[in-house]
Amino acid sequence: MSRVSDFTELVAELDYPMYIVTAAADGERAGCLVGFGTQTSIHPERFLVCISVKNHTLPVAEKASLLAVHVPSEEPAEQRLAELFGSETGDKTDKFAHCAWHRGPGDVPILDAAAAWFSGPILSRTPLGDHVGFLIEPDTGECPDLIDVITFRDVQHLEPGHEA
Ligand SMILES: Cc1cc2nc3c(=O)[nH]c(=O)nc-3n(C[C@H](O)[C@H](O)[C@H](O)COP(=O)(O)O)c2cc1C
Repeated sequence: MSRVSDFTELVAELDYPMYIVTAAADGERAGCLVGFGTQTSIHPERFLVCISVKNHTLPVAEKASLLAVHVPSEEPAEQRLAELFGSETGDKTDKFAHCAWHRGPGDVPILDAAAAWFSGPILSRTPLGDHVGFLIEPDTGECPDLIDVITFRDVQHLEPGHEA
């Protein structure tokens, strides 16, 4: 591999699960679709989500004490959530006025249509280039049998609310 474009082309061919990350702070709610997410440790349990510096979600997540990570499946209602949170920006649209949700731990919004989710305190925030990595300690959530989770291939056609 000799050129950056080779790397860009290679990673565009990869497939991986998608997440919807939500946050709340100072009475404000935010959330976005995230592909850059991964478990980083088994014992202790740790999960990293990376939020773009351009996203409306970032300043809310910076002030929040915890995050919620939803794992949408290909059920139509969950696909609609992925589209809403990936192609609209909180700069212009109150996404939470367009979906059902309830307050979870620390008032973080939990999206009703997303059956699988977890939340936990933010342990660290790390600048990682044009994204900030939030390391969380999952301590609450619901885990039904997960079938057909939404992956990058399912949503790569969406036009992101913010340019990456
Ligand atoms: C396939 C796909 C993957 C994305 N992955 C990420 C990601 O890993 N991190 C991120 O911050 N935004 C990601 N986005 C972009 C945001 O979800 C999108 O710009 C969203 O509209 C931002 O909303 P906000 O401005 O309300 O935060 C992705 C979007 C798509 C369509």
